[in-house]
Amino acid sequence: MKLLEGKVAIITGSGRGIGKSMAELFADEGAAVAINDIDADVCNATVAELKGKGFKAIACKADVTKDEDVKKMVDDTVAAFGTVDILVNNAGITKDAMFHKMDDKLWNFIQDVNLLGTILCCKHVIPIMQAKQSGKIVNTASTTGLMGNIGQTNYAAAKGGVIGFTKGLARELAMHKINVNCYGPGFVETRLTAVKADGGDRSGLGIPKGVRDSGISAIPFGRIGQPVDVAKVALFFASTLSDYVTGEVISVSGGLLI
Ligand SMILES: NC(=O)c1ccc[n+]([C@@H]2O[C@H](COP(=O)([O-])OP(=O)(O)OC[C@H]3O[C@@H](n4cnc5c(N)ncnc54)[C@H](O)[C@@H]3O)[C@@H](O)[C@H]2O)c1
Repeated sequence: MKLLEGKVAIITGSGRGIGKSMAELFADEGAAVAINDIDADVCNATVAELKGKGFKAIACKADVTKDEDVKKMVDDTVAAFGTVDILVNNAGITKDAMFHKMDDKLWNFIQDVNLLGTILCCKHVIPIMQAKQSGKIVNTASTTGLMGNIGQTNYAAAKGGVIGFTKGLARELAMHKINVNCYGPGFVETRLTAVKADGGDRSGLGIPKGVRDSGISAIPFGRIGQPVDVAKVALFFASTLSDYVTGEVISVSGGLLI
């Protein structure tokens, strides 16, 4: 028996990276998946790949920070597959700077994508789950949200917010048999941890080689995480294996954070 047979999952930010790996794993475990991304090209490409393997998938291009986009994503998923059983709030982004150089725009952008996006997706999915008294909400934090990191006060605040939000929501939704949990990846091989071309400027995606090398050398398992390492933990939270678990945070960091 497959772990997600007959289930319907929305996975935000699943056009690439960790979310894409999760979509592949969930589909392989029997779920119909709504692939969301702000980037239509990767969103459509991932859906084409999944359909090519015989899986059920639809593309939902949407910006998770926009209420009307999120509503449409949820409506389209219900129209295609009938319901929503699982929501994984995976969409997230970094934009690093030392706190004294961080302007409001940079601060708010990171809160919006990582925290507000999570909140809006929950807002639109919860009524569907409440109506059937079941559902799995899986949120994405980060070891940065648990231990902080230089140059990432904006991201630490947003991911710390995701953890607090998860715990509060878990308490509110337990009476409706809806589980709300959260995982915090450490260092995972995606474009967020790729070496930045210019090496020294941390204002965009990616990190300088020195930061990446020293980060990986601090991991007790001795290797960077792969997207599927995180996808497996999300699968645990999305499946019946975690039916009696709620409000938890699992660090997926190869021992970086114990
Ligand atoms: N890679 C890591 O080491 C690491 C560590 C800790 C936490 N995380 C978290 O894991 C999640 C996935 O990260 P990843 O490394 O796979 O990154 P990624 O950049 O490879 O994938 C994230 C996807 O989210 C999409 N996205 C960004 N903003 C969006 C928006 N407003 N609406 C919809 N989609 C949007 C992007 O287009 C991208 O395809 C994020 O929440 C990230 O913060 C990653």
